[in-house]
Amino acid sequence: MTNVRERASSLSSAEFRFVCAFVYDTTGIVLNEGKREMLYRRLTRITRERELDGFSAYCDLLKSQPEKERDYFINAITTNLTSFFREQHHFDYMTQHEIPNIISNAGNNKRLRIWSSASSTGEEPYSIAITVNEAMKAVMTQWDVKILATDIDSNVLAQGKQGVYDEKKIEDIPTKFKEKYFRRGSNQNKSNVKVANELQRLITFKQLNLLHQWPMKGPFDIIFCRNVIIYFDKETQLDLFERYYELLKPGGLLMLGHSENLGQYQQYFENVGRTIFRKPL
Ligand SMILES: C[S@@+](CC[C@H](N)C(=O)[O-])C[C@H]1O[C@@H](n2cnc3c(N)ncnc32)[C@H](O)[C@@H]1O
Repeated sequence: MTNVRERASSLSSAEFRFVCAFVYDTTGIVLNEGKREMLYRRLTRITRERELDGFSAYCDLLKSQPEKERDYFINAITTNLTSFFREQHHFDYMTQHEIPNIISNAGNNKRLRIWSSASSTGEEPYSIAITVNEAMKAVMTQWDVKILATDIDSNVLAQGKQGVYDEKKIEDIPTKFKEKYFRRGSNQNKSNVKVANELQRLITFKQLNLLHQWPMKGPFDIIFCRNVIIYFDKETQLDLFERYYELLKPGGLLMLGHSENLGQYQQYFENVGRTIFRKPL
């Protein structure tokens, strides 16, 4: 029996280069030799689903019908790993510092805007919504709160919009949140939970490729850009940081993922916590 590494070499250099270039040009995601096995596994699934008999036939399809095939291909290639309250310290910072400060400095401008810019299947924006709803409990009805959740992948967005999760996904969240914000399904859905309407009302899910123009004007109080720039090269990262900076309010926060940093763009932000960066006032 051959192992994945050996079989992955059946993806020719030309096919590998073509697919990597297609992914980079479309999404900004950099794939290198280290990703060959991952790419092999995903391409194997794709060719099976497309009922094609090899990678070269799939490359031909991408070449001949790039527009038609793009969404399906990108959905199959992206890595969507996420979880509720992933990197809990960001939500703690919002609860303990940011939201109380925003409330006390608001005056008549009772407007809160948050952007989850690589929202995947929705766990991140729903965790933001729970955090906001809890921290603003006493004043929520007087506030105009909106959370924008975007991703390039149309499948994960559809899942996020639906707000239905396997109950295992909420295993680790506090019981009081489970009871307050999730409804258990019945019959064949009894191992699923559905997010409460009061959270769903706060969130708009939209498809957006971070490499393209951004239609929103902002300004945002907080932007989550977590565990996505890690897939991009330095040039793309810098370009994105500049655009996030422009869309943030003075004093607004940019949250990055655990292994991400602002590199040379750090000089424009103040580092106020672990992977938490503030645009100066
Ligand atoms: C690993 S998930 C991170 C999810 C969440 N932010 C978290 O930290 O748990 C990365 C997400 O980035 C999305 N993504 C990758 N390239 C993108 C692009 N060019 N524009 C928008 N989203 C992109 C993927 O579809 C995927 O859902």
